[in-house]
Amino acid sequence: MGDENEIVCVTGAGGYQASWLVKLLLLRGYKVHGTVRDLSDEKNAHLKTLENAAENLQLFKADLLDFDGLLKAIDGCSSVFHVACHVLSTTLQNPQVEMIRPAVEGTCNVLKACSIAKVKRVVMVSSIPHWPKDQVMDEKCWSDKEFCKTCEIEGYSYAKTEAEFQAFEHAKAHGLDLVSVCPSLIIGPLLQPKMNTSTLLLLNFTRDGVEAIENNDWMAVDVRDVAEALLLVYKKPEAQGRILEQGVICKFSSEKLQKLGWRYRALETSIVDSIEDFYEKGLLDKILISPACLYARAFWLMKLITYTSAVSL
Ligand SMILES: NC(=O)c1ccc[n+]([C@@H]2O[C@H](COP(=O)([O-])OP(=O)(O)OC[C@H]3O[C@@H](n4cnc5c(N)ncnc54)[C@H](OP(=O)(O)O)[C@@H]3O)[C@@H](O)[C@H]2O)c1
Repeated sequence: MGDENEIVCVTGAGGYQASWLVKLLLLRGYKVHGTVRDLSDEKNAHLKTLENAAENLQLFKADLLDFDGLLKAIDGCSSVFHVACHVLSTTLQNPQVEMIRPAVEGTCNVLKACSIAKVKRVVMVSSIPHWPKDQVMDEKCWSDKEFCKTCEIEGYSYAKTEAEFQAFEHAKAHGLDLVSVCPSLIIGPLLQPKMNTSTLLLLNFTRDGVEAIENNDWMAVDVRDVAEALLLVYKKPEAQGRILEQGVICKFSSEKLQKLGWRYRALETSIVDSIEDFYEKGLLDKILISPACLYARAFWLMKLITYTSAVSL
């Protein structure tokens, strides 16, 4: 798998993770159909500036609830990277309508369109499961949906779990080749102008510090490493089902992905690159807080983060 003249589709192309994936695919010679919700929105303009975008990137307007729009984007593609999802936010008025339905029904729409278009493989981005702290997490671990419903008002974990579950049900019923990739907290520089939820978290940690933090194992992965993992699992026919990927760590097994050859960068690199990027974008003021102080603060905070990456396939 992975003939580099292929046409592949990336949903939610203008988002944080998807932008890095589109960049990587274009660099490797793929032709990319990217879906965005608004073709004229400036927040997607960075995609047009990526190397090879002029010749090889075509954008399509498609909401996840717009089946016809998705089918148009997916038609003619040999594979689909389903990345789009409303990511955890505290400002939702109606989580069922704004988060859960688009994630679950939208994923089903993507999978149905993939079946109709007869794509060879679908790689979807899910999320690491909620799992007891004292137990090793591996590819057999799924979040308890009922528990998810009780732990966040916004329903993000529930939406991701149910969407991934439904995707595998569809794949099984229709003989579709599906691999799901479950990252932990994603950090690293941004290509898009708009902050996403996970980088905003790192920015807030770095800029404002925190008075208290939960004594828990946090896990993080670099956005560029996730893009490489997505392409790797697409290209390796032996990649099947779910895989968890991991950096340095304990309670998290990603043996399956590492056996495919996935490598990840050091936590320090991700933090330094993130902070440099925050400076470049004017999000951190060197005059107010010295760089040394910021790095120290970020490293101290990130010491609490178990550097891990999660991909399930
Ligand atoms: N960031 C993390 O720490 C993290 C961790 C684990 C898993 N993930 C997963 O990784 C994927 C990408 O996350 P991200 O951090 O890159 O988020 P992001 O920057 O917020 O990107 C999300 C993308 O999904 C699109 N989208 C949202 N709702 C949509 C809908 N109803 N129809 C069509 N497109 C829709 C957004 O489009 P608009 O710009 O138009 O809203 C945006 O392009 C998601 O599946 C997320 O669940 C992320």
